[in-house]
Amino acid sequence: MPKDRGIEKVKDYFEDFLDLVRKKIASQGRVRILDAGCGYGIAMLGFVKEFGNKVEMIGFNYSEKDGSREMMKKEAVKKRIFSKKELSKIKLPRIIYCDASKKLPFKSNYFDFVYSMASIYLYDDKINFLQECNRVLKKKGIARLSVAFWPHFKNKVGFPSKYYEMWEIWDKGKEIKIIDYFKKFKNIRNIGKAGDRLQYLEIKKVKKLDFGLKLVTSIDYNFIWKKWAGIKSIYTTQRKLKPRWK
Ligand SMILES: C[S@@+](CC[C@H](N)C(=O)[O-])C[C@H]1O[C@@H](n2cnc3c(N)ncnc32)[C@H](O)[C@@H]1O
Repeated sequence: MPKDRGIEKVKDYFEDFLDLVRKKIASQGRVRILDAGCGYGIAMLGFVKEFGNKVEMIGFNYSEKDGSREMMKKEAVKKRIFSKKELSKIKLPRIIYCDASKKLPFKSNYFDFVYSMASIYLYDDKINFLQECNRVLKKKGIARLSVAFWPHFKNKVGFPSKYYEMWEIWDKGKEIKIIDYFKKFKNIRNIGKAGDRLQYLEIKKVKKLDFGLKLVTSIDYNFIWKKWAGIKSIYTTQRKLKPRWK
């Protein structure tokens, strides 16, 4: 799994994201950005290179083995983003460690922007993360997230079709496609069609975001396809499970 996508991938994945950052800097001077599942932090370094001390970059990983400050420094020199001398002068992005399926270790209304590349498909509770994104965003803040709505494993020879999807939502006994479910929420925009390589989700900060879903279970697909597989998350709109016979 690549963990070294750079700022050029942010442009590729999230259209005019950099222009939004530029405009925000022009209007308020400085912005704080979260890279959710930052890997080695190469994209964050790209932001520092592009915007200098006008950006404060914070990233998280599940654990240190996925990317630490030391790895980031090494990669920065190897990829010629910064020389060793330059690295000693700049304010390096911070990397912290947490489980994004749980409450994020940040205050509410903290970030101007959040982005996430190739990470959410690995979270047990993706919906909780989207709600948390909204919580940590400031007023008028924006998140752009690559979310793996597309049938992730299609065309992988030998991969059973019942395992293609990473999201599953059940509403009163019927399965609803995640993209259709999100249509109910005005601050959520799905960009791109199902199957597009670069489909992503945009969240515009609202006071409180509650999708009205309960996580039933998550299934780790690693047992099928070790190198790339993510985690399927299954939700229901039935918050209180009350079997009819009780
Ligand atoms: C495939 S790497 C992508 C790294 C980087 N965004 C890139 O595109 O190069 C997936 C990242 O997601 C992070 N991740 C996976 N599951 C996570 C979880 N439950 N909580 C926090 N981070 C997680 C990993 O630590 C890893 O850095």
